[in-house]
Amino acid sequence: PIKAFLFDLDGVIVDTAIYHYQAWRRLANELGFDISEEFNERLKGVSRMDSLDIILAHGGMTLPDEKKEELAAQKNQWYLDLVSRMTSDDILPGVATFFSQVHKANLLTALGSVSKNAPMILERIGMSDAFDAIIDGTKISKGKPDPEVFTKGAAELEVDPDECVVFEDAVAGVEAGKRGGMFVVGLGSPDVLTQADLVAASLDVLTVDDVLAKASV
Ligand code: G6P
Ligand code: MG
Repeated sequence: PIKAFLFDLDGVIVDTAIYHYQAWRRLANELGFDISEEFNERLKGVSRMDSLDIILAHGGMTLPDEKKEELAAQKNQWYLDLVSRMTSDDILPGVATFFSQVHKANLLTALGSVSKNAPMILERIGMSDAFDAIIDGTKISKGKPDPEVFTKGAAELEVDPDECVVFEDAVAGVEAGKRGGMFVVGLGSPDVLTQADLVAASLDVLTVDDVLAKASV
């Protein structure tokens, strides 16, 4: 049976995905090229340094590590400026209702985000106490699509992978959940999240009962 739900943060609980994109786009623009929204799908769920490598390759650039550290820090500063005014009003539609259903169903919850800013974001939106376990970018050595962030979450909750459902908006995150042996709900477009077991536009259009029914067959 399903015992735990594991949630990505950016683009699932809160719409920070747009701010990551804006900050990366600003960086690319300063380097002399642009990144499209379609290209940005490749960055979702991917760690800060891996994202920078993908962007630099896209722009046909190679830079020394020192310069890369500098650019990554610059992007993060812009990102922090963008999220600094966020409040609980920025929690995505349907999240509160979905979480009350999750608790009524006695399911365990974990956050599985490769963002090093995840604890700060949870604090800002008042959701620091909403999860039984929190795995963020400071607790893992490999970012998505590696399954580490989710397998660590399952281990901390003391459940098996096949007892977990993962909620993800990113191609790399869906792949991470599948490689971890979990049922994956993709939140977004079925044309993009092709590896997901079930796709919905957002948590707003899902109920816990629906998910449990589909994940338990
Ligand atoms: C999440 C986001 C990515 C971001 C990554 C690292 O996975 O979807 O866009 O690059 O976290 O975030 P950080 O806050 O550590 O730079
Ligand atoms: Mg995400």
